Amino acid sequence: MDSECKSQLHERVPVIDFEGFDGPNREKIRREIAEACESWGFFQLCNHGLHQDLMRRVKDVSKEFFYLPEEEKMKVKVKPGVIQGWSHPSLAASASKLTANSTEYYHNLFKPLREDVVPLNPPTFGITWIEYAEQIQALAENVLALISESLNVPSDTLTKRMRGPTDSPYLANKVNYYPPRKDTVDPLGVPSHSDPTAITFLLADDEAGLEVKKDDKWMPINPIENAFIVNVGDQLEILSNGRFPSVDHRGLPSKNPEHERLSLAIFYSANMKCVVGPLEELLDESHPPLYSACTFEEYMAKFAARGLDGKTGIASRQ
Ligand code: SIN
Ligand code: FE2
Repeated sequence: MDSECKSQLHERVPVIDFEGFDGPNREKIRREIAEACESWGFFQLCNHGLHQDLMRRVKDVSKEFFYLPEEEKMKVKVKPGVIQGWSHPSLAASASKLTANSTEYYHNLFKPLREDVVPLNPPTFGITWIEYAEQIQALAENVLALISESLNVPSDTLTKRMRGPTDSPYLANKVNYYPPRKDTVDPLGVPSHSDPTAITFLLADDEAGLEVKKDDKWMPINPIENAFIVNVGDQLEILSNGRFPSVDHRGLPSKNPEHERLSLAIFYSANMKCVVGPLEELLDESHPPLYSACTFEEYMAKFAARGLDGKTGIASRQ
């Protein structure tokens, strides 16, 4: 095991070793995840069991896509009023407010799959991302089981709530590509925001650039090789009735202007038709609901209208 992967829980974003989560280490890991979600809303997860080969392939196929000529990427560009597809800062003016940031990115929905914006080039793009998203879904559900247990509810509570009657969660990706820059002006990157979804698994290349707001200061995260950076989103804050708050973060390009940077996020959340509010099991006379409930679809519509704009997303907070 890599020494960087020993659990570390204090001065920086906690690092959690997932080895043995389904056996002897479950209680320890459950406690570490709950503490990290309460104090940081972020942690790095090592020894999570995902194949390194698949992680490498999903990075490679994403880079290959971004390296394609613009005409090719335009075939899957975001269209006005739709958030899925490829977007470049130069297109932002014509697209929805959500796309108005200065990074090139690709965003798609895997559950249910939005086929019209799956690029045909590189040919293995779609199949690799679908395989990867499936694996992350399984990992996310294992982490959510531990988070449910921390809330003293049965392990499957959060996933059952988010899968809803159709038994399928919302699963989406966003791949950010920060190219090397030729001029001296630093591009903004992805502005400060909290994720509107429930939990995010981010795979970063070895360039630092993700920053988390902690006690009103921006704290950089140095990605550990092959670890996931996991963070709490708004839906988990609402479901946990405020126990696990979502946290503002932003994405910057590499500090070295000659280096490119790539970050790959998978978002797990409630399916669009699911009504999300604080879990009833957590409420009683002394613990009233702190948030009003709405469908995830309604929540996303508000988020898209507002754009990336710091943590104002918890609009449903009463
Ligand atoms: C984001 O949260 O969308 C940006 C993450 C990153 O680039 O590291
Ligand atoms: Fe984010």
